[in-house]
Amino acid sequence: MSLFLDAAWGQDTNRAPIWIMRQAGRYLPEYLAIKEKSSFWEMCRIPELACEITLQPIRRLGVDAAILFQDIMTPLPPMGIGIEFKPGPMIDAPLRTLKAVNDLRIPAQDEVAPFVAEAIKLIRQESPVPLIGFGGAPLTLATYLVQGSGSKDYAEFRQFLRQDPQAAHALLDKLTEVSIRYLKMQVEAGAQAIQLFDSWAGLHDARTYAKFAKPYNSRILEALEPYRIPRLYIAVDALHLYDEIKTLPCEVISVDWRAPLSQVRPMLPGKTLQGNLDPAVLLADKEVITNEVERVLSEGLGGAHIFNLGHGIMRQTDPEHALHLVNTVKAFDRKKARELLLD
Ligand code: CP3
Repeated sequence: MSLFLDAAWGQDTNRAPIWIMRQAGRYLPEYLAIKEKSSFWEMCRIPELACEITLQPIRRLGVDAAILFQDIMTPLPPMGIGIEFKPGPMIDAPLRTLKAVNDLRIPAQDEVAPFVAEAIKLIRQESPVPLIGFGGAPLTLATYLVQGSGSKDYAEFRQFLRQDPQAAHALLDKLTEVSIRYLKMQVEAGAQAIQLFDSWAGLHDARTYAKFAKPYNSRILEALEPYRIPRLYIAVDALHLYDEIKTLPCEVISVDWRAPLSQVRPMLPGKTLQGNLDPAVLLADKEVITNEVERVLSEGLGGAHIFNLGHGIMRQTDPEHALHLVNTVKAFDRKKARELLLD
């Protein structure tokens, strides 16, 4: 076992394991050097490149888990969806009608993204730490597919859910089926945990989440149950949804920075908490980082805790600051900290 897997399974470990959301890519010079010579899809689809990029933050930072280098959009092109990255996902033909949804294909499990299975096998041969596989939650994938690109408020998508719920459910159903196949393939290839990214769920009210997100997320997470790997879930800016999220069939909930872990803990009984440093703190001086990290660690003492950022690491982060973050977390003894608190 490993510290990361122990904490994911609910163990109150003596030190909090740490990995960093979006740790591979974006801010690392060794990633940017590969990106000079390759397109984003090439980096995803050439197993040797995906493996190398996955391992870069392990070597440089010494984090306790690896996360596969891919994107949440990876399983969608075989459905018949054209996607480019500029740098965020851009959909060739945004899906707005039932006809367009009905035309989407559902590829067989071994046809969704065979290059991902190859990358996972290579990573497992080389990685000293457990590998987290991942996928996008259906509502978050649908957000891009309907809107067509990133947006400030995703107005067209929010309109679509209300205007054409039948098409919306048909789309979510297909994305759920493809996601189940894609994630099963990852686990069968060697992924030791799965994180479901529901980055845009927080846009919606709890009733909309209950209708358009929860049943699909539950189906995916339940389909992974027989594999006995920890299941992680993140919705960003979603405190108002925790009454729904608390009963999702998963072991770990990743929490953004907007509320302290001590306040969130009773809202998510039985779950390991992951989080929740504000990624912008890493832009500040090292002393500021130390103080903020120790505060988050102290807030997490009430139960099992995996240290992470509240959302992805920012592009402009100095890798030295990321290393300082990891070292600060590793130096923090949770047992001693608790004893000090009791004194
Ligand atoms: O550690 C890792 O970064 C692993 C790989 C990973 C990528 N995307 C690679 C990537 C992961 C885990 C993701 C998840 C992802 N992708 C999410 C969910 C997590 C979150 O941040 O909320 C979302 C919403 C996407 C969609 C997406 N892909 C966006 C918005 C962008 C553009 C901006 C950015 O950097 O996030 C991408 C492109 C993308 N995916 C890049 C990387 C490294 C940037 C490509 C580049 O310009 O170098």
